[in-house]
Amino acid sequence: MRKIVINGGKALRGEVAVSGAKNSVVALIPAIILSDDIVILDGVPAISDVDSLIDIMEIMGAKVSYQDETLEIDPRGIQNIPMPYGKINSLRASYYFYGSLLGRFGEATVGLPGGCDLGPRPIDLHLKAFEAMGATVSYEGESMRLATSDGEKLHGTHIYFDTVTVGATINTMLAAVKAKGRTVIENAAREPEIIDVATLLNNMGAHIRGAGTDIITIEGVEQLKGTRHQVIPDRIEAGTYIALAAAAGEGIKITNVLYEHLESFIAKLEEMGVRMTIEEDAIFVEKQENLKAVSIKTAPYPGFATDLQQPLTPLLLIANGRGTISDTIYEKRVNHVPELVRMGADMSVLGGRVIYQGSTSLTGAQVKATDLRAGAALVIAGLMAEGRTEITNIEFILRGYSNIITKLRALGADISLVED
Ligand code: EPZ
Repeated sequence: MRKIVINGGKALRGEVAVSGAKNSVVALIPAIILSDDIVILDGVPAISDVDSLIDIMEIMGAKVSYQDETLEIDPRGIQNIPMPYGKINSLRASYYFYGSLLGRFGEATVGLPGGCDLGPRPIDLHLKAFEAMGATVSYEGESMRLATSDGEKLHGTHIYFDTVTVGATINTMLAAVKAKGRTVIENAAREPEIIDVATLLNNMGAHIRGAGTDIITIEGVEQLKGTRHQVIPDRIEAGTYIALAAAAGEGIKITNVLYEHLESFIAKLEEMGVRMTIEEDAIFVEKQENLKAVSIKTAPYPGFATDLQQPLTPLLLIANGRGTISDTIYEKRVNHVPELVRMGADMSVLGGRVIYQGSTSLTGAQVKATDLRAGAALVIAGLMAEGRTEITNIEFILRGYSNIITKLRALGADISLVED
């Protein structure tokens, strides 16, 4: 197993470029199954989730080439074979194969999705949509099989999601773009990644309206053609580096940032007194002093992103005062707390809420990443802490942060990836 080793306390400065959005590409790649021709994606991040998805697409018969963040996929040779379980359960977003295979073939056999330990990760709302469109669900061992009666096409439906769900919103779009008739999704999630997927599908010939609002209408079409598409910047990677710059930087510019995707996050930083200069598609963060502790409550987009509460925590710990962090999306997203406590943080979890005391000085320790964004929080804490920090379980981190060691070394960090 590999681990990340950091000698903290170094002055970090310079420039870091944000890559393409992980939570977009994990849907954009399966969406290409719906195309009758080659699709090219630019700005695809070099992360292990992308490697896993490329493997799965090739196993199914697609021709794939990936060079300098440009991914070219020819889906014409894809056969609808049962998904390779070992690959599927390595990433949560494998559930997007349900929607795209159903949309193309009227059936799909996929291993049940895996992913981070954020507590139960149900897919009941995905299944509710597929059943409303004419698919039936059956279980075969570790896999689930979705199929319409004798391979008929799916039909449109009017679905209301009582929980705002990114995954089920996107999966319903994937299933609906070639279904018979109209699908309306009510109480849809509004994340930018949903707009990115809808943009790709519409450029392939789909008829999707309202992506980014809470009502999305899809008119089914017969055929989807090839196209070329630029992936949106990763707002969560951007937020992670902005938090890092405020916590451990002495002047860092984060480029390829869409400010409008981070408004609630930046508002919180401004409430803390973080001094930033916001440019067209970049943010410059100075060295910070005298920050004010604030409380965080996550919410579906455009609220404060659940994926950013953990990466922001180390910065909160050095602010003056005390505060709370409550994650309304994933109550159990607190596994980073005991690891930060080992580094000297004064934090506790009470009734699903994190309570923290600021003005902490962190010291290096041996810690483990429990999920992707918890791992990011530990990297930031390690860069801030005096002494040596060793982080194990780092495969989580490499799933979502492309070239993180290279990017941090370029800022002056003393960080390395070593065999444990
Ligand atoms: C996406 O997960 C992201 N992952 C997550 O990012 C992100 O935290 C999450 O959206 C919320 O923004 C990807 O896009 C690959 P949801 P997803 O469906 O789609 C409940 C990261 O760190 N729910 O929006 O799985 C669910 O339990 C990852 O990059 C159901 O009850 O999240 C949760 O409480 C972590 N039934 C809430 O809805 C369902 O069928 C929101 O989940 C589906 C979801």
